[in-house]
Amino acid sequence: MTRSQDATSRGRRFDSLAEAEALAARRLPRAMFRRLNSGAENGVTLAANRAAFQAVTFRPRGAAVHANRSTETTVLGSTVAAPILLGPVGALRLQHPEGAQAAIDAAARFGTICGISPGAGHSIAQLQPAADSALWYQVTTALGGREAAERDIEEATARGYRALVVTIDSGLRPKVAPLKLNARTAVEFAPDLVRHPRWTVGFVRDGMRVSVANTAVGASATGAGRPVEWDDIGWISASWKGPVVIKGVLTREDAQRAVEVGAAAVVVSNHGGLTLDGAPGTLTVLAEVLRAVDGRVEVLLDGGIRSGADAVKAIALGAKAVLVGRAYVMGLAVGGAAGVNRILEIFQDDMQRALAFLGCESVTELGPSHVAAPAEWMS
Ligand SMILES: Cc1cc2nc3c(=O)[nH]c(=O)nc-3n(C[C@H](O)[C@H](O)[C@H](O)COP(=O)(O)O)c2cc1C
Repeated sequence: MTRSQDATSRGRRFDSLAEAEALAARRLPRAMFRRLNSGAENGVTLAANRAAFQAVTFRPRGAAVHANRSTETTVLGSTVAAPILLGPVGALRLQHPEGAQAAIDAAARFGTICGISPGAGHSIAQLQPAADSALWYQVTTALGGREAAERDIEEATARGYRALVVTIDSGLRPKVAPLKLNARTAVEFAPDLVRHPRWTVGFVRDGMRVSVANTAVGASATGAGRPVEWDDIGWISASWKGPVVIKGVLTREDAQRAVEVGAAAVVVSNHGGLTLDGAPGTLTVLAEVLRAVDGRVEVLLDGGIRSGADAVKAIALGAKAVLVGRAYVMGLAVGGAAGVNRILEIFQDDMQRALAFLGCESVTELGPSHVAAPAEWMS
């Protein structure tokens, strides 16, 4: 039994993401819950991600329900129980003391890939891969330059991580409502903290770690942090034997560049609306990216996935799989690993139901004929 599995019963308390969100809203201090649900600046891109999924409708097939419907597929050679991956998310320890360890355990139990952010709050050395883990590590120059990134690549290699993620749309501080939670400013939050005693006790027991930086990188880095550059992909690929995933692609230009530098996959992503407000909803540019890469790399997508049906829409439009961010963090906040696992189960169940109505036996049969999307996305 992994250390987080004793939380199983807690994760069963909700049957939908909406319920998990309501529970997370009760459990987390208000400022933290608000921050988690915010986008950069005016939240236009955050909303655009959701609006894009709402603009796609299904084209159901009647009287064609298959008794056994499979959500299993592969992503970069790893078999996943469903094409729903956990994206790299920073500051997880603020949501739940188990942080990224809970994500790793839940993903392994469910059978999917877990992306680890160097800003998650636990260092890569502190995190224990589970027996069936399929882990991706987000390598960055933002927290300590090349030197720190190379140390992380060594750790990722030693620990059997399967791919490196290079997020090209981070490294600059986004303009989001600041969350200044530390021992000094705790006084401001005191009433909020008193109203959320379970969270506060967990936070205090966990040593009140407010830093989002990977502790090992932060402690030992000598190089200055800087945003990642395309030229970095050269030395990253040279010191890493496995596939490299470029995350944060929204244009044909970046998609082509990712192929040229040797990426094995790209993630169509706007960082969940947390970087440049005014960037498009990810689903609206999926066709542009697919055309640009022309089958040479796998294309994944994230941003705004709030149900398994959303995942089905993205896959029908050509994504190999989707990543989730906020949705799984809500489960984490409510019930640690069991809460994350519950979100994955709920999304898988949604997918199976959608497959039934679409007359599909497997998620791999999904294609453009199963959805209707705005014509301008395709042109
Ligand atoms: C609180 C938060 C922290 C994040 N931290 C990172 C990060 O450290 N690295 C990264 O590549 N993406 C990060 N992301 C982006 C996610 O990987 C993912 O792209 C995004 O959450 C998808 O959108 P969704 O939240 O609507 O599912 C973060 C997202 C959130 C909400």
